[in-house]
Amino acid sequence: MNLLQRLGLSSRVEAYRQEAASDGIGATELVALREGDAREIEALYRMGALAQLRERKGRSRDLAQLIGTSVGEGLYLCDALQHALDNAGDVCEFGVAQGATSRLLAGELSADTRGHDRNLWLFDSFEGLPQPSAKDKLIDDIFKLGTMDAYAGTMRCARTLVETKLRDAGFPEHRVHIKQGWVEETIRTAPLPSKVAFAYVDFDFYQPILDALHWLDTVTEPGARIVVDDYGFFSDGAQAATDEFVAECGGRWQLSFPLPSAGKFALLQRV
Ligand SMILES: C[S@@+](CC[C@H](N)C(=O)[O-])C[C@H]1O[C@@H](n2cnc3c(N)ncnc32)[C@H](O)[C@@H]1O
Repeated sequence: MNLLQRLGLSSRVEAYRQEAASDGIGATELVALREGDAREIEALYRMGALAQLRERKGRSRDLAQLIGTSVGEGLYLCDALQHALDNAGDVCEFGVAQGATSRLLAGELSADTRGHDRNLWLFDSFEGLPQPSAKDKLIDDIFKLGTMDAYAGTMRCARTLVETKLRDAGFPEHRVHIKQGWVEETIRTAPLPSKVAFAYVDFDFYQPILDALHWLDTVTEPGARIVVDDYGFFSDGAQAATDEFVAECGGRWQLSFPLPSAGKFALLQRV
């Protein structure tokens, strides 16, 4: 498995990179090109589905450096976070990897006066994906490994990559709380936020997603937002966990979906 695969780069981004390399375009130029694309994509979404999304200087740079996350999904994350900031509470990310989406969320918090006192709680084993459960069926073999079991341990990234990204972004260190370890343990270990306004759940597999959602249900109020990545993509466990959670909460959480062009993820709002 090459470095790009270990980092979780989607085949679409990899194809883009290879095409650029064959044209003699290096990494720096590629980010600049993607930044221009991100600006254009944001302008298009703002004309329709995300008309309320407020602009932010530097967002296109963060969007251009996402790894395995589409610009469209990044924009939906920013939009959901902006809505959630009408509520009190901190921001969580479950499944951080190298920290590209953490940096996007940090940038949004820094640019919004309502975000200036919020803490960023980042949950990750930093050991990659765990063993899948029986509920995780492989529906998209993203790294071409053949079986779901073969994905255990993939996407492993060093914690220092996240710390460096947030430091480079100028996000105050005292507001970053990295909860390192398996989530079934870390959601039971202090310190933890007492109230959460927004969470991005990107664990890929059924059980950790369900564990995170159950815990979030205990620390959220009406108006809180959650984005669950990979609904109907890679492992069908993400969809199973989300559907199960929404059904058992009996109307407490409203489920909606983005425009198909943005990718496969679910939007949850507490009502
Ligand atoms: C898809 S990656 C996250 C990508 C990141 N959100 C981004 O877009 O840049 C999934 C991450 O979840 C972590 N993870 C998966 N299951 C976990 C669990 N049960 N407990 C803690 N971390 C877990 C993995 O270590 C991996 O870093």
